[in-house]
Amino acid sequence: MRVLFVCLGNICRSPTAEGVLRHKLRAAGLEGRIEVGSAGTGDWHVGKAADIRTRQAAQQRGYDLSALRGRQVKAADFHAFDLILAMDNSNLHDLQQLRPSNASTELDLFLRRYQLELDEVPDPYYGGEAGFEQVLDLLEQACDALMIELKGRL
Ligand code: 4NP
Repeated sequence: MRVLFVCLGNICRSPTAEGVLRHKLRAAGLEGRIEVGSAGTGDWHVGKAADIRTRQAAQQRGYDLSALRGRQVKAADFHAFDLILAMDNSNLHDLQQLRPSNASTELDLFLRRYQLELDEVPDPYYGGEAGFEQVLDLLEQACDALMIELKGRL
């Protein structure tokens, strides 16, 4: 099972989702059984570490994002991953455009899939500190729900 998280820049929301899910998989002893990645629809931050505000907020909750580097999502990802989860509707739209017609990969809006109180993870990039905490709150809840699904699918 291979899961890819996608946002716009791959320096705030999707790396956070990757770090949170990796942490939960490790805690459950499932790290070797499920592959996790993240990518952005844009190319501005390719090769860059996650945003410092994202890394610091994550570190305070015990998630180490220091090894992650930005990359841009590509059509081949639809063959390399089984489940692609978008952070907002704009990401989902861009992914639908990129999706090869012969790809059977499941593509979904992450929060909507688990019927959380919001459908989208708000982009924290141009906002204040509270936005980064909200990203973590939403992604921790969504990753708990995803863990239940993944355990059921193994
Ligand atoms: P992300 O946040 O999509 O959660 O990584 C953003 C990061 C950078 C930009 C936009 C959103 N940007 O415009 O550079």
